[in-house]
Amino acid sequence: MASDPKLLAFEEVNNHNKTKDCWLIISGKVYDVTPFMDDHPGGDEVLLSATGKDATNDFEDVGHSDSAREMMEKYYIGEVDQSTVPLKRNYTPPQQAPYNPDKTPDFVIKILQILVPLLILGLAFAVRQYTKEK
Ligand code: HEM
Repeated sequence: MASDPKLLAFEEVNNHNKTKDCWLIISGKVYDVTPFMDDHPGGDEVLLSATGKDATNDFEDVGHSDSAREMMEKYYIGEVDQSTVPLKRNYTPPQQAPYNPDKTPDFVIKILQILVPLLILGLAFAVRQYTKEK
């Protein structure tokens, strides 16, 4: 391996997204897996679906063996220029909590939470009194 690895832009790596020309980004490194497409035990479809993005999570999620990791070295062609990789969007949960889509005021809900059980209790009591008299 050369001491000065080739720096590749994300856009450039992105262009290699076909079965006959497939590059992957895994842990900041770029792999040209074109010769491996037919031999990959997980199939070529998964490799294709891992193009055009940082495939680190996809690769790690499978729990590849050490021998798979050794195999990767054969396909290493350079490093991805991290400044060209689009940032992952972070999920920000909605500010409104708890979930209350119809915007019913919180205090109305709290009152109902107390009132409804009381009403049921009162009703049960009334029915019992009524049936006792008969
Ligand atoms: C240079 C990159 C890669 C190499 C050298 C490689 C190599 C291998 C090898 C040797 C196996 C057999 C099981 C093992 O030894 O772990 C395997 C299985 C598999 N790989 Fe990869 N792989 C690569 C990238 C990927 C990526 C990016 C994905 C996901 C998008 C993927 C998905 C899978 C799946 C689904 C299996 C099958 C697991 C099973 O059915 O047991 N691989 N790979």
